[in-house]
Amino acid sequence: MSIKVGKVIYSGKAKDVYETEHSDQVVVKFRDDITAGDGEKKDCLHQKGYYNSIISSKLFKVLEEKGIKTQYIELLEPGEMLSHKLKMIPLEVITRNIAAGSLLKKFPFKDKQVFDNPIIQMDYKNDEYHDPMLNDDISMALNLATKEELDEIREITHKINAILKDFLASKGIKLVDFKIEFGYDNDGNIVLGDEISPDTCRYWDIKTFDVLDKDLFRQGECGIMDAYKKVASMILDEEELQKFEI
Ligand SMILES: Nc1ncnc2c1ncn2[C@@H]1O[C@H](COP(=O)(O)OP(=O)(O)OP(=O)(O)O)[C@@H](O)[C@H]1O
Ligand SMILES: [Mg+2]
Repeated sequence: MSIKVGKVIYSGKAKDVYETEHSDQVVVKFRDDITAGDGEKKDCLHQKGYYNSIISSKLFKVLEEKGIKTQYIELLEPGEMLSHKLKMIPLEVITRNIAAGSLLKKFPFKDKQVFDNPIIQMDYKNDEYHDPMLNDDISMALNLATKEELDEIREITHKINAILKDFLASKGIKLVDFKIEFGYDNDGNIVLGDEISPDTCRYWDIKTFDVLDKDLFRQGECGIMDAYKKVASMILDEEELQKFEI
């Protein structure tokens, strides 16, 4: 598809959003920049945007096939995702299947504790306030969403978790936790946006428990791009692997 890309309407820490000739569509460009620790740790990793866009596209397609509404229209080329333009809801919706990361600093869970009921946590996406954890009353008082919308977001998120957990397990990956963002499309539907990549999820190799995500960067380990590439190679089918030369 040939698409005329216009000016940047938002430039974040890892992606740029461009307007297009269609007012209801944007191109999300995945950059190689990587940040952690509230933006304090920064680097640029060659081909991160390439792999994150391919992995996100694949997972959006898997979700679409199971009836979840996502921003995904087409991967124009690696790094550039044609997407439905969404009015983003400033919530970071985090789902946890296994205890890891910041949760262990805040609550007395055991490291790697498995949750029988996945935990859904919502943080306020606001750098100035360092993305604090919300409850429904605070979200409603801040006019971030209504009670009904919060319930709908939780319901969709549980479905997304079940679909992704099954799909990734079938490919040899354990979905430990992940962060997603939603927005409204032109018809007022709540739609999954942003990305689902090793930057925004914790993925462990089911057999070896090797970390295959941004935790490698947080912990100053090497082989970060090898891990991202491994995720792509595990989840793509033969045709996709050939197309993207993985
Ligand atoms: N389909 C979409 N339509 C409009 N905006 C989107 C869409 N998908 C994602 N966005 C927004 O685009 C931005 C993506 O940029 P990026 O993730 O780099 O930045 P950030 O969220 O500011 O930083 P970080 O995620 O590192 O905290 C985010 O603000 C996100 O909410
Ligand atoms: Mg982001």
